[in-house]
Amino acid sequence: MRRFRFRASIGVPVLALVLAAAGGVMAATQSSDEQALQPTRQSADQAIESKVSDLLSKMTLEEKLEQIQLLPDFMVTEDEVRKGLGSVLSVTDPKRIRELQRIAVEESRLKIPILFAFDTIHGFRTIFPIPLGAGASFDPQVAFNDHKYGARESAVVGLKQTYAPMVDVSHEPRWGRISEAAGEDPYLNSVLGAARVKAIQGGDYSASDKLVASPKHFVAYGQPESGRDYNTTDMSEQRLRNLYLPPFKAAIDAGADTVMCSFNAINGVPGCGNDYTMNRILKGEWGFDGFVEGDWTAVAELRACPPKLPDTGPCGHGVAADGPAAAALALNAGVDSEMTSTLIRDFGQQLLAQDRISMRRIDDAVRRILRVKFRAGLFEHPYAPVAPDKAEAEMLRPDAVAAARKAASRSMVLLQNKGGVLPLDPSKKTAVIGPLANNQHDMLGPWWGAGRDTDAVTVLDGIKQQSPGATYAEGCKLSNTEPPTTDPEGCGSDAGFAEAVAVAKAADQVVLALGETREMSGEAAARSTLDLPGRQEELIQAIKATGKPFAVVLFNGRPLTLEGVVDDAPAILDAWFPGVQAGPAVADVVFGQVNPGGKLPVSFPRRLGQVPIYYNHEPTGRPCDPEQKYVSRHRDIPSCSPLFEFGHGLSYTTFDVSNLQLSSSTVSKNGSLRASVTVTNTGRRKGDEVVQLYLHDPVASISQPVRRLRGFERVTLDPGKSRSVTFTLDKSDFGFYDNRGKFTVEPGQIDVYAGNSSSASMTQSFTVRG
Ligand code: BGC
Repeated sequence: MRRFRFRASIGVPVLALVLAAAGGVMAATQSSDEQALQPTRQSADQAIESKVSDLLSKMTLEEKLEQIQLLPDFMVTEDEVRKGLGSVLSVTDPKRIRELQRIAVEESRLKIPILFAFDTIHGFRTIFPIPLGAGASFDPQVAFNDHKYGARESAVVGLKQTYAPMVDVSHEPRWGRISEAAGEDPYLNSVLGAARVKAIQGGDYSASDKLVASPKHFVAYGQPESGRDYNTTDMSEQRLRNLYLPPFKAAIDAGADTVMCSFNAINGVPGCGNDYTMNRILKGEWGFDGFVEGDWTAVAELRACPPKLPDTGPCGHGVAADGPAAAALALNAGVDSEMTSTLIRDFGQQLLAQDRISMRRIDDAVRRILRVKFRAGLFEHPYAPVAPDKAEAEMLRPDAVAAARKAASRSMVLLQNKGGVLPLDPSKKTAVIGPLANNQHDMLGPWWGAGRDTDAVTVLDGIKQQSPGATYAEGCKLSNTEPPTTDPEGCGSDAGFAEAVAVAKAADQVVLALGETREMSGEAAARSTLDLPGRQEELIQAIKATGKPFAVVLFNGRPLTLEGVVDDAPAILDAWFPGVQAGPAVADVVFGQVNPGGKLPVSFPRRLGQVPIYYNHEPTGRPCDPEQKYVSRHRDIPSCSPLFEFGHGLSYTTFDVSNLQLSSSTVSKNGSLRASVTVTNTGRRKGDEVVQLYLHDPVASISQPVRRLRGFERVTLDPGKSRSVTFTLDKSDFGFYDNRGKFTVEPGQIDVYAGNSSSASMTQSFTVRG
């Protein structure tokens, strides 16, 4: 019998599903359908378990070690496939996948299929907005659709695992990989991460359009010191548990059956050598029965680097003396599958003979991998659902492209709109100016999957579709090359400004497309400044001097410092990296076909020196006050706040969130209560508002964050219309983990804040009874 862990998924509202998985609001109001969707890991299908046992009993040690091996395409040999290679990553050519799979299932002794994996992070060919952008949508359906189509297109070429969702909470905007998840909040990351897992796996990932999900990077990869990728992380137990682990837990609860361990060390212990996080928390406390793959060469990186080269390959953490020690450490700490490096495969036999690893542990790792392969239906259906030569026809289908366009426009955040410059009038003459205006390459953002530049619609073309006759000037060129170069970010020259000014003068209005290139974020792409690269601020000033109405549309993979921009640019729309439908989606919002409703999933600092600055910070004994001296402030910044706070985002209409009411003034530790508000569209256009609910525990045994998001809902309202929005709160909302890793619910007052950003002031309180 097949497992039906997540029966019915179509027809049950995505938000209800994912909020239940995120363990937060609405848990108390689940329907029986939704309850049926809760994971029941204890009841893993017995039939699969006995098939796994049967297969395991036939495997030689060499075959078991091969099963643990995960190799990138360029390292794969047919001979190793015949020996029983377990998994392959990063091959996307359907012919090659089919041929390797054919060798595995026809020519290897036990005919165990290969698991093919790929980073479908925000789309395979139909590229959606980067996950930070999707985070700004505050809409689980956006994240869901991204992976629904991503899984469908990936499955068509023969892939069966994706290294997604990335759910690394981050307070570090210098870090390039902040672009890959939903920003600084654990709750938002939990809700959207769970939605992504549901979309990737569906109710049963053996379905022909589904894959197994792999949330990453386990864990606390989002907090590298100084923002440099792969760097050290050091944190308290309570921060680990309250900020960084919850999105992983939500993803596992949503059904994710594989997990990737991280490169970074946490308190001195690297993610892929970490018994505490992998064995104790993930596999122990959470009962995870799938497998953990190590990130790329992360097992080898556990080794100390020898003082003198010759090059021995990846190394550095210094928690293992050599290759065998690294293999033993990783395997014993919980790594089940080794990516790219081959130490477990190469030294497994020797380590077993020396009693440094056990056959029991090898069997456990292999059992986990085979379990996932059986659940994925690979033994019955090892090949892609369509022939290799038919795969291309399945890419960029109209439903996927339409969903990408909608996702892109729902992800955009209107940061500022002085004088109501936006929306522009498409019947007027529009100039589209800037290094990202006529650009396909950068629109896809980092981690573009199998996306192709030529699939992307430029901002210029999107604008022309709605404002025919739009004109164009580049202004300056950004750099797509890797530093060090003499002009690492590009736009170092103002030679093109004169032409840009002339084009602006000849038009009625200007769209200025500025920001970062896609190479400036993603993996290994830390920046030491958050400013608009190059001389783009000067380009804004030059356009401002023309006196023409204009709006800046930003493309970026991280928060930027826009202190120098807000005074000069009346309107600023953050479009992130919107994906293949960049142009049409920007035009939809700029001309008002779509009223922007996104909100910032991450704080935008005024200046780099404020970093880390995040809304969910702990209080201090000397709260920030720019007017006082002996308080926690920067003496050279006359403000304590970010430039734009978490949850901020404007609309072409206005909203009022009012009438916060609690269903009860007290609650027992295991009880629940409801908080409701009324949201009203007080303007003259239909639009979206994201109602946000925050909690604060003012007196607790350990200082609690000044606010924590515990509920949100994006609502669409006609002018003059109101709606009531209700959130259910229970101990998962007002409890917290302490520094011994214990979840605790303390008696006392809890303050509730509701509104449309993290600075909402409307408040009520309730008391948790002892
Ligand atoms: C990244 C992972 C990715 C893997 C495979 C690594 O460098 O850290 O996020 O899944 O490569 O491409």
